[in-house]
Amino acid sequence: MLSIDPSKRSSLERRICDGDLVIVYERHDKVKAVRVQKGSDFQNRFGVFKHSDWIGKPFGTKVLSNKGGFVHLLAPTPELWTLVLSHRTQILYLADISFVISYLEVVPGCVVLESGTGSGSLTTSLARAVAPSGHVYTFDFHEQRASLAREDFERNGMSSLITVTVRDIQGEGFPDEFCGAADSVFLDLPQPWLALPSVRRMLKQDGVLCSFSPCIEQVQRSCEVLGAGFTGRPSFFVLFLCLSV
Ligand SMILES: C[S@@+](CC[C@H](N)C(=O)[O-])C[C@H]1O[C@@H](n2cnc3c(N)ncnc32)[C@H](O)[C@@H]1O
Repeated sequence: MLSIDPSKRSSLERRICDGDLVIVYERHDKVKAVRVQKGSDFQNRFGVFKHSDWIGKPFGTKVLSNKGGFVHLLAPTPELWTLVLSHRTQILYLADISFVISYLEVVPGCVVLESGTGSGSLTTSLARAVAPSGHVYTFDFHEQRASLAREDFERNGMSSLITVTVRDIQGEGFPDEFCGAADSVFLDLPQPWLALPSVRRMLKQDGVLCSFSPCIEQVQRSCEVLGAGFTGRPSFFVLFLCLSV
């Protein structure tokens, strides 16, 4: 599982076990998630690294290859997961993720709705923020992306905190079962304004919405919809992040 529980021992005190997921750090732009398996090897241009040499070592250890090359074995965190996940879509990176989680006021125990799931970069950090008792319900209309995200969350041990559902959120909105139940809603959709009427029904009083839009036209369309239907609702706080094109 990713390192998410601050009450657990620091990763430097934890020892690598057979079956653990480790982040093999060669340099800042060469980072890979590897499942430790006794009898397996990791190979790179610096040589062959035997997994059996890793077992029992503390996370953070520098290990050597048969040719004297080295890598560091890091404990997985949501930050490192964002660096190693396979990109099936554009993803959010750490600078934006930090901002989003802070402004969404996501804390342990929160219920968060997200769409689209994409590659699950933000979802993984949201899951850590709601742990251990909250939950992230994430929706994507693309079946294969949803299924691969589900597999990734199994792989990184976050699946108990995340439910991935295939759904067209712009067309159908969020499911009625979440009416009035969401502490926060995050949208990273091409036409977020289509989902806003549903978002309003999902949020608890004082719940927070963040819609992430890459161009100002999307932000303007969303503001128009909010202006027509959401003004004067003090329980509804809206944050728009706008990246320049
Ligand atoms: C840019 S990606 C999201 C990336 C994600 N925030 C991350 O950090 O990995 C946008 C996602 O929205 C999904 N999407 C687009 N339209 C949708 C819709 N109507 N309903 C649900 N998901 C949708 C796409 O399939 C895509 O996976």
